[in-house]
Amino acid sequence: MRLFSDSIGRKVVMAITGLLMVLFVIGHLLGNFSIFAHGINAYAEKLHHLPALVWGNRVVMGLAVIVHVILAIQVTMENQAAKPTKYKVERYLKATFAGRTMIWTGLILGAFIVYHLLQFTIRKTPGLVLEQDALNRFDVFTMVVSQFKVGLIALLYVVAMGGLFLHLKHGIQSTFQTLGLSNGVMLPRYGALGKVLSSVFLVGFVAIPVTIFFGILK
Ligand code: HEM
Repeated sequence: MRLFSDSIGRKVVMAITGLLMVLFVIGHLLGNFSIFAHGINAYAEKLHHLPALVWGNRVVMGLAVIVHVILAIQVTMENQAAKPTKYKVERYLKATFAGRTMIWTGLILGAFIVYHLLQFTIRKTPGLVLEQDALNRFDVFTMVVSQFKVGLIALLYVVAMGGLFLHLKHGIQSTFQTLGLSNGVMLPRYGALGKVLSSVFLVGFVAIPVTIFFGILK
């Protein structure tokens, strides 16, 4: 079954759902940064006192992820079907590594998000320390620290954030192109925006497991 019959429609919906997820990632990074000021318990408590915001976001993001993934699989299968013969020497004209690996980095992110939700939202993965802090709030800080002290978990986050970096480096520029907002002058600027934003996400998110693992943040 096809979600959209024409390929332009599919790409536009992928661009819009992708953009929604990027907005979430920006908000999530800013919120997570409160961990460096030991303010993440207060931040999480404030957020959970706004159930309409939390659940509205969950519904919109859940739908965006599902639609984005179905369309990505459709587009990839169609592209494969359109070039059935394998050349001995593969030539990639202007196609970057990030662009060619979108389906793989996307699948890495999908697997990461399932694990991440089981870990910090549903709280059912091994080794989680689940307790209240001195002010009787749920202790998000201790929960997160209990996880990133484990080398394998910290490494898994670094690898997943590498996937996020590559996916968005290509995805952000591609979104503006698909939405018809780019021309010869603007395209390189959107490319630069993709590089800067995805680098900020990479450094920002990776800083949390790395500083915890090396005992800098405790
Ligand atoms: C070092 C990196 C990250 C840390 C420390 C982190 C931390 C957390 C924590 C503590 C929660 C639970 C919040 C709560 O319920 O109070 C959460 C939820 C979530 N995170 Fe992350 N996160 C990270 C990276 C990411 C990335 C890169 C994504 C997406 C690509 C992501 C997507 C989500 C989603 C979708 C939720 C569920 C939000 C909800 O319950 O409504 N996280 N994260």
